[in-house]
Amino acid sequence: MDRKKLYIETYGCQMNVSDTEVIFSIMARNGYDRTEDISQADVILANTCSIRDNAEQRIYGRIDQFAREKKQRGDVLVGIVGCMAERLKEALLDTGKVDIVAGPDAYRNLPVLVEAARPGHPQIDVMLSHEETYADISPVRLDKNGVSAFVSIMRGCNNVCSYCVVPYTRGAERSRDPRTIVREVCDLHAAGYKEVTLLGQNVDSYFWKSEEGTVDFADLLSLVADVSPELRVRFSTSHPKDISDKLIETMASRDNICRCIHLPVQSGSNRMLEKMRRRYTREWYLDRVAKIRKEMPDCAITTDVIAGFCSETEEDHKDTLSIMEEVGYDYAYMFQYSERPGTLAARNYPDDVPPEVKTRRLNEIIELQNRLGLESNKRDVGKTFKVLVEGPSKRSADELCGRASNNKMCVFPDKIHRPGDYAMVEVLSCTSATLICKLV
Ligand code: SAH
Ligand code: SF4
Ligand code: F3S
Repeated sequence: MDRKKLYIETYGCQMNVSDTEVIFSIMARNGYDRTEDISQADVILANTCSIRDNAEQRIYGRIDQFAREKKQRGDVLVGIVGCMAERLKEALLDTGKVDIVAGPDAYRNLPVLVEAARPGHPQIDVMLSHEETYADISPVRLDKNGVSAFVSIMRGCNNVCSYCVVPYTRGAERSRDPRTIVREVCDLHAAGYKEVTLLGQNVDSYFWKSEEGTVDFADLLSLVADVSPELRVRFSTSHPKDISDKLIETMASRDNICRCIHLPVQSGSNRMLEKMRRRYTREWYLDRVAKIRKEMPDCAITTDVIAGFCSETEEDHKDTLSIMEEVGYDYAYMFQYSERPGTLAARNYPDDVPPEVKTRRLNEIIELQNRLGLESNKRDVGKTFKVLVEGPSKRSADELCGRASNNKMCVFPDKIHRPGDYAMVEVLSCTSATLICKLV
């Protein structure tokens, strides 16, 4: 039988990138090959994100474009999968432009849905699961250079931060069997990969129990780091309330666990943190930062910040600026608060910070971070780093680029190394985004 062609666009977080690799794997077993050319596709999928309203608006725009593609060709199916599928369910079918809707725990069922879907007969599966981790599925790797891969270690989230839609779109938290994680990492290592990033919404609450005992995230990190000293290990995302001394000490004890922790603060104001239901205080957060700095003075700390959450005052906003300054973040993802239907905040607190105030506060946050990022890079000038080479730099074919353990992008003239090699470099100068280096 002829194999068909599947085209997928991926939106949202790294988890979705990893899920797209799982979907390709499931669909490959059922007669579908990957295409990057939408005009060749028999099935078009968008793996979607609901985290902010603008993420969803962008996808509605794509659905309209897919509809035009369908009108021209007739014989193509359009599916919406992922978080937006889970959040909007049948409402997506009401657009009349979508043939398949599948939530994040329904991907094993995708081949059946695709088979059954016909124009006018859309198919939907948005069941969430307490067990599904796709543990047995070997993802089809979509990274370009065969150097760095994502490995999903858990799914869902049990935290219910008041602004956040993820617990509703991804369901309850569940951890994946550590044996399947280590096996996947061993396979990646054998295939020549040099870096894995362990993924979960709150990796610090990873927990597995079996007859052989229990495995927490620090234990898992040790198991993965032991696969090979040549294999770098990263992870994301840490939750400040759960990041333990044991984890920080485990990191410090291994050279191949990268010196970078993504530790989203969201706000520097205790009043806002309480309202956001983050379940830590500014003081607790700063204590975690102090512990990280004590064990690993060279560790980068990055963050997420939300500007203009419900009832945020100028005072609260200043607390956010001051905690950013105090920590001196190496990098930050910064957002305006976007109300998500159904969340605790949407039900209980008015979205009352005027848009122009949100924008102004966000701009102040971005401006501050630009300075902090540049200062952080300047502190690295003169230092020597071991860089994992990714490929040619964007600027010039005579230059390579790669990341240091602290996740900073380094560029350097080099004709010897290849993607996947380690290179020692010295930092000569920097921009706000890049360390300019030479080989040593
Ligand atoms: N699990 C991670 C975050 C995942 S969502 C954690 O707890 O840190 C990624 C980021 O999107 C969040 O850290 C937050 O900064 C942002 N975000 C989530 N919901 C948002 C909303 N309703 N409006 C604006 N930003 C939001
Ligand atoms: Fe959302 Fe909070 Fe869970 Fe992160 S920890 S995914 S912000 S509910
Ligand atoms: Fe990720 Fe967006 Fe879903 S951030 S978990 S794809 S809502």
